[in-house]
Amino acid sequence: MKSILQTVDLKKSYKIGKLDVPALRGVSLDVAEGEFVAIMGPSGCGKSTLLHLLGGLLSPTSGSIVIDGEDLAQLSDAQRTDIRRRKIGFVFQRFNLFPTLSAEGNLKLAEKIHTGSGSKNSDRRREVLRLLKLENKMHHKPLELSGGEQQRVALARAIVNAPAIILADEPTGNLDTENSEIVLEMFKELNQKFNQTIIMITHNPEAAAACGRTIQMRDGHIVN
Ligand SMILES: Nc1ncnc2c1ncn2[C@@H]1O[C@H](COP(=O)(O)OP(=O)(O)OP(=O)(O)O)[C@@H](O)[C@H]1O
Ligand SMILES: [Mg+2]
Repeated sequence: MKSILQTVDLKKSYKIGKLDVPALRGVSLDVAEGEFVAIMGPSGCGKSTLLHLLGGLLSPTSGSIVIDGEDLAQLSDAQRTDIRRRKIGFVFQRFNLFPTLSAEGNLKLAEKIHTGSGSKNSDRRREVLRLLKLENKMHHKPLELSGGEQQRVALARAIVNAPAIILADEPTGNLDTENSEIVLEMFKELNQKFNQTIIMITHNPEAAAACGRTIQMRDGHIVN
């Protein structure tokens, strides 16, 4: 199977004043196109750090990341940003929705960032909102939505541009059982129907069971 994402001996330390705080201590990972991978491990073991590196939101201290054949370290900032826009959909641990925009407005903005121009693709937006059972909440702003609905809008935003890879940081972390199931069903459908590659951090063993593979992390390492 074609590899879509690869890291070799990836390390990341955060600087706090003069102190180096190691968060990732050498992670080598290979994800094939169409895989659905769960990342699990205790709080503080480096899961979000890994995901942010994979998504190009952080730069590694050392080691390499190759996305769809392109080594991020060999690219300029502008090229990295471009890959991130074209190939990656990110679902954050916090929702990061624009408070003044409606659900649909948040999706439109994501499309605009993706294509660099305004978007006319209202069919795709509607389809994605329908998939997440949000069609009747399209015109609501984040504060007029429940936490579960906000998380689903954040997901809709991540997938509206059909990215090659979805990186999701605890997408069901703040959700009740019903909303978690909607979100997981949607991931499964994207994965199975469209061969979408998904990497998802979760603390929930049931969510991990929905994935094809689980990676366990501990103290900045992969342990299995
Ligand atoms: N911006 C930062 N500056 C300094 N240290 C950081 C920063 N972000 C994370 N860390 C530290 O790096 C380590 C890994 O953090 P990370 O957020 O990757 O953990 P995590 O596995 O996602 O945890 P959780 O399950 O709680 O979300 C932790 O010790 C954390 O305190
Ligand atoms: Mg985290």
